[in-house]
Amino acid sequence: MRFWTKRQDRAADEREADALWWAWRQACEGTGLGNQVDTATGATTVVPEVVEIVLGPPTILMVKLMPGQLIGDVRREAGRLAPHLGAAALRVQLVGRIHVRVELLDADPLDGTLPLDLPVAGDGVVLGRDEGGRDLVQDWADLAHAIVQGVTRSGKSVFTYGLLAQMAGDPRITVCGIDPTGLLFRPFAGSRHATHQVSGVADPHAYLRLLHDLVAEMDERITGLPADRDTLEVSVAQPLRLVVLEEYAGLLRTADQDKQLGKDVRAAIGRLLAEGAKAGFRVVIVVQRAEASIVGSYERAMCSLRISFRTDTTASLELLHPGAPKAVAEAHTTALPGIALMSAPGEDLTRFRAPFLGTYGAYVRAVIEACESGVDERPAFAVA
Ligand SMILES: Nc1ncnc2c1ncn2[C@@H]1O[C@H](COP(=O)(O)OP(=O)(O)OP(=O)(O)O)[C@@H](O)[C@H]1O
Ligand SMILES: [Mg+2]
Repeated sequence: MRFWTKRQDRAADEREADALWWAWRQACEGTGLGNQVDTATGATTVVPEVVEIVLGPPTILMVKLMPGQLIGDVRREAGRLAPHLGAAALRVQLVGRIHVRVELLDADPLDGTLPLDLPVAGDGVVLGRDEGGRDLVQDWADLAHAIVQGVTRSGKSVFTYGLLAQMAGDPRITVCGIDPTGLLFRPFAGSRHATHQVSGVADPHAYLRLLHDLVAEMDERITGLPADRDTLEVSVAQPLRLVVLEEYAGLLRTADQDKQLGKDVRAAIGRLLAEGAKAGFRVVIVVQRAEASIVGSYERAMCSLRISFRTDTTASLELLHPGAPKAVAEAHTTALPGIALMSAPGEDLTRFRAPFLGTYGAYVRAVIEACESGVDERPAFAVA
């Protein structure tokens, strides 16, 4: 092991580096990152080797993974390793193919708020920032159907406000959907989006009328696809329909006042989920708990972007993120508002902080401004 320092007292630094080396070793043994091997003198445990220590701040361990290990294995155990290394949290990043850089953090990297600066450049949508300080930005055309869950006051609506404020100004997107709370769509009143939105709980039949209109449009778009295309080219004339279903449990409860209506609403949502993606429809379900009686396994399976703000139990987290490490799931039951876990195709489970626009008033102003901004012609492009 080498170690680097800019400090003066070399003997003290050597002691500190040694202590860290031992702490790493013992913490790895305790978490199962190490492997038991038999030697001539008995059983011993080998752990991922610390090849370099930089005494901080920030203090950094450069670690060589053992054969068969991935960076995800270290990230999964980070919560158990950190306190034994004298840190509040660890930032783990891959260096080359088999080394990881482990930075010891004094505080949770997701502490503090993440302001949302509008407008966002290009066609990107900022979903949040991860523990490594990476902005999670996605082209909106690449967004999948999504479920956002979390207990009350955990940050679902604020996350959705951020999403809509970013997307409302683009003429190639219509923000549609059903909002039993009345708050999400209120700032859209009078805009081009409002004709595709239903708010409140007074007229549940309006839910179905809207969904039937959307399904009919979807069918028409699919029928009208050119012979050489299997996905719609989103354009100002045929915009992406972002169908947000806020307070999904309340929405279904309202629809279920009439049994047949409830069934028809579910069937229409099922069709949008199953066939909508290729026709430029994206569904976002916002719900406190994605339990089977509310979000059926079929609907859940259709939503490949899954985001959980604080959940009440680890079982709730399992609903959207099966196989999430136990320590991560347990810690998430006390997560602060705005902190979430995300599963997306091809991505490890990612802990991130959602952006924050500010007060509800700031959201209202952002949407009004976005809706008023010029309807400029932008080029059409394909969506998957
Ligand atoms: N990303 C964030 N950054 C900072 N603070 C946040 C963030 N998200 C939420 N909060 C705080 O938490 C409060 C509750 O958030 P929000 O209204 O989004 O909860 P919710 O999950 O929609 O709850 P409910 O299920 O009751 O509607 C906000 O008013 C805000 O103070
Ligand atoms: Mg809410």
